[in-house]
Amino acid sequence: MTSSLLTPDFNSYPSRKVENLTVHLLGLEVTYDDNQKTFHLSSDLRIHAVDDETTHQITREPLISPLDIPDDLSIKDAKIINDGTVSVTWSHPVTVNDSCVSIFQTSWLYQTGLYGGIHHENDLENETWEAKEFNNIISIDGNDYLGNNESFKKMLQTIIKFGVVVIKGLPVKESMLEEVVSKIGTIRSSNFGKIFDVKFKNDPDSNAYTGEELLVHNDLSTREYVPGLQFLYCIENETNGGLSTLTDAFAVAKYIKKKNIGIYNLLSEYPMSFANKSASSDYRIDLPIFNHDNKGKLSEVRWTCWLRSPLRGELSYMKKVHDAQKYFYKLANESRFKVEFKLNPGDMMCMDNRRILHGRTSFLGNSGSRWLRGCYMERDELWSAYRVSERS
Ligand SMILES: [Fe+2]
Repeated sequence: MTSSLLTPDFNSYPSRKVENLTVHLLGLEVTYDDNQKTFHLSSDLRIHAVDDETTHQITREPLISPLDIPDDLSIKDAKIINDGTVSVTWSHPVTVNDSCVSIFQTSWLYQTGLYGGIHHENDLENETWEAKEFNNIISIDGNDYLGNNESFKKMLQTIIKFGVVVIKGLPVKESMLEEVVSKIGTIRSSNFGKIFDVKFKNDPDSNAYTGEELLVHNDLSTREYVPGLQFLYCIENETNGGLSTLTDAFAVAKYIKKKNIGIYNLLSEYPMSFANKSASSDYRIDLPIFNHDNKGKLSEVRWTCWLRSPLRGELSYMKKVHDAQKYFYKLANESRFKVEFKLNPGDMMCMDNRRILHGRTSFLGNSGSRWLRGCYMERDELWSAYRVSERS
């Protein structure tokens, strides 16, 4: 079967050399020159073949499904036809003109068989940081960010790893926030609008719009999905105070887990009630402060102290929960974990809003102007932008 495609997607994969192929009753076993093995179920492999009758040559999506695959489909033969491809001969046709032969790139078999869609050798594991390590996290030059793809990719990678990056020295203009973040993905709107301005207001609907100190928190803890990313771009900052603060809540959680597993478990179990306070919206959610993915890995810290609702339950249990959240909050605001720095006009903080807690020191409303612009985005916009940047 013919195809102009090499793989059923838009990605490029590092080449792999195959040492051996073994055909099993249910599928194919591939052994590579680094001794790794991949296994491919016949019916699934046939669906993902790039044949022009079974994969759309423009969208690259499959045109067939499990419903089109005979129950007894098997592999009659498999051979390496050159260093980069494997030819598979099938027992049954699945379309009228099916030649029963499909070609697979060894690089695609290796990558998707072992790791899924992203190049596994890239260093993207979370690396937690405490305050003393914050300065090791790279910041990005604003001029580079706008015109340099390597710099853009480095920025995405830094957010994935460390949860935060600061872009310094962007041009100072109101439209800059949207211009910069749109390079990554689609902005998520909220009850504060698509873009919100953090300024002192005489009639505030959030503590953010006062000059009060804000201890570290994430935004929109009351929502079903806490926005995965937050961007804060400084346009003016002439106040006496109003320093930005950041804490890696994953580092705090790691510390608590090591020091007191009982408290860690309590913060991972107790469904804390969060509710926003507004005349025009009433978002509520009951979820733990520490949330984990389906592999048991910490994936989200949900915490906005002033949006908590009263605790419920038996008195001694509530006392334990109260003490546990106090312990966490105290640590998150200690100098061991929290950094404090001034955002200058043109600087932008890009944060994983489910991991990095942010805040600010207090300032007097009449001590000078302070104007930050902000917006939200989902985490998967970040990952999508990163994967696309990897294709070149
Ligand atoms: Fe905030």
